[in-house]
Amino acid sequence: MDGEIPRELAEEMDSFDPLAEFRNRFIITNPHMIYLDGNSLGRLPAATPDFLDAVVRKDWGAGLVRSWQTWIDWAGCLGDRLAVHALGARPGEVTLSDSTSVNIYKLAAAALDAAPDRGTVIIDADDFPTNRYVMQGLAAQRKLTPRAVQSHVDNGLDLDVLRAALDDDVALIVLSLVSYRCGALLDMAAVNVAAREVGALVLWDLSHAVGVIPIALNAVGADLAVGCTYKYLNGGPGSPAFLYVRTELQPVLQQPIWGWFGQRDQFQMGSDYDPLGHIERFLVGTPPLLSLAAVDPALTLMEQADVTRVREKGMRLGQLIVELADRWLPSHGFRLASPRRAEHRGSHVSLAHPDAWRVCQSLAEDASVICDFRVPDRLRIGPSPVYTRFVDVWDAMDRLRDLVANRSYERFPQERTRVT
Ligand SMILES: Cc1ncc(COP(=O)(O)O)c(C=O)c1O
Repeated sequence: MDGEIPRELAEEMDSFDPLAEFRNRFIITNPHMIYLDGNSLGRLPAATPDFLDAVVRKDWGAGLVRSWQTWIDWAGCLGDRLAVHALGARPGEVTLSDSTSVNIYKLAAAALDAAPDRGTVIIDADDFPTNRYVMQGLAAQRKLTPRAVQSHVDNGLDLDVLRAALDDDVALIVLSLVSYRCGALLDMAAVNVAAREVGALVLWDLSHAVGVIPIALNAVGADLAVGCTYKYLNGGPGSPAFLYVRTELQPVLQQPIWGWFGQRDQFQMGSDYDPLGHIERFLVGTPPLLSLAAVDPALTLMEQADVTRVREKGMRLGQLIVELADRWLPSHGFRLASPRRAEHRGSHVSLAHPDAWRVCQSLAEDASVICDFRVPDRLRIGPSPVYTRFVDVWDAMDRLRDLVANRSYERFPQERTRVT
């Protein structure tokens, strides 16, 4: 695109958007507010409150403990749907449980136990903190060497940097498919091939990819994966995470938390731990049922939206952000802090600005635009394609341009709040 980008162009893009009607399937209480933080917490699907109300009143209120006859299968059923519609995996390879952090621990520990002769784990020095911390902890407990590869803070991990760090001492590589900070998208197939060449397993964190990037775990030979359901999947705050283990690996990997939900014949209350042979062996204890339930209507909506269409729109939304930022923002101290090409990014775009935290606050308070801030100086803009219009992006960028032009952000405190 050359020249000005008028608002009419964004309106036109909306008029041809095959996903346009999906916006109506979300609760939007304030139409003036532009929500560009779908990569942190997705919006509330309109079907969710009634669905939860029924679970609370009928299942819990009336059915009481007898409802566990059906509740017990929910994590697996939702996992199967996620496997087929969003992850390119087979039924029986995915389940929902615990948090992403805990699932990283479980799957990484299982993978390390399966490679007792190897002493190195690879992490990305710029990966989401929990991934690094969990792996540092596991390495410390087992006296392994955590080898951190340095990804580029704006462009993500260079495959050659990763390849140079691999040798036959590496047991496990933990990486995010989409970088939480800059949104860089890795080549999953190429990483898996490189790992296989040295006999290492890869544990993928799909948190910023699931629901917005078509993922083909089986086709690209993925071993292990985890991810959040509260971001682009709209499962609600704290909804349980998913985990994936390739079928062939399931019987040979043993997770470290020996809970009764992973036990064969759970209600036999047997004296010794004897884990199931399939994906449920990676479960631990009673799931947070109400949070798990909220994933169901959210998933139905995403199944209907279709991740291929979501990706196409996500790339165009991201490109609109980049094009507008290029035209309007460099003279106000901004620069692009994400890969420039849409096919190299997930659905969010980061912009660097020396006063990004104050700009982020001013955007929310003065301009009703919700993004988030990430250290050291990043404004993260995460439009979720199922409910974000092209005019939302245009208006948000326009409001951002005004606010930095009149420097209204300068009256906000430099001190950061606990959550940014
Ligand atoms: C990439 C990534 N991995 C892991 C997590 C942590 O997930 P949880 O807090 O649910 O364990 C997050 C949270 O935002 C994330 O962005």
